[in-house]
Amino acid sequence: DRVHVFAPATVANLVCGFDILGLALDEPGDEVIMERSDQPGVKLLKITGDDGRLPLDPAKNTVSACVQMLLKHLNREDVGVEIELHKHMPIGSGLGSSAASTVAGLFAINQLLGQPLTKQELLPFAMKGEELACGHGHADNVAPSLFGGITLIKSYEPLEVVSIPVPKSLYCSVVFPHVDVPTRAARQMIRSKIELKDAVVQWGNIAGLVSGLFMSDYGLIGRSMQDVLIEPVRAILIPEFYEMRQTAMAAGALGFGISGSGPSVFAFADNHPTASDITRQIVQHLQSKGIDSNGYVSAV
Ligand code: HSE
Repeated sequence: DRVHVFAPATVANLVCGFDILGLALDEPGDEVIMERSDQPGVKLLKITGDDGRLPLDPAKNTVSACVQMLLKHLNREDVGVEIELHKHMPIGSGLGSSAASTVAGLFAINQLLGQPLTKQELLPFAMKGEELACGHGHADNVAPSLFGGITLIKSYEPLEVVSIPVPKSLYCSVVFPHVDVPTRAARQMIRSKIELKDAVVQWGNIAGLVSGLFMSDYGLIGRSMQDVLIEPVRAILIPEFYEMRQTAMAAGALGFGISGSGPSVFAFADNHPTASDITRQIVQHLQSKGIDSNGYVSAV
């Protein structure tokens, strides 16, 4: 009657696919320990790794709020659970921090109840968690965190998620510069209308990226990692963004961009040593500018 669940961090958008593409990293990620209790209701016993930033009120924290929602949906409000959330990744980093916690919580309650729902059926509840966390229920972090690999949100209404094959030798460098960029704010600054000529470039890139992933064509993947709609606006919030890109590309990256809504950035590489090198060089560059950061390297 006790489960221990890990849900991974994610890189959303994959540069050109705003709100529709995302991938799961090996690390970092969040852990949820959930235990049945005799008292009905959802209790949040403790949170570690958040520097006291997340609410312990079960109705306000996305983890417990989503578990409550799920129990209500299943007519199982008689059930009592106690939750511990251990955060192993930075909040407000663009690595899907809220998504990982929410997915871990939903997966845990579903396990404790004997898996009444499929992962597909858990997804809308995880999206509600994103809505609670940043005001918008996008699925490009929660879907890859739940399903693993690379996911495409083919459509939101009706919700349709497609798993995209991952080329054998695809690695991801991720660097989180220590500045705070709340997703809510990073969404508010985006223009809501776009030019047709920009849309043509963007959907060419999305189709190119997805084709590249299907064909394991690393060159095509790299050439498609270009965003003419969102990145020019959001890059302003990220210190040394263009210098980090230059560093990554000079170190052999296939492509480079913002992870989710930032400030984390990521690069693809076609081998592990290059990916490690990219992470190390970006971290060093930031350090030379007096900016602390966390660097990660992950197979995709
Ligand atoms: N697609 C979302 C955005 C991801 O870019 O706002 C947030 O992590």
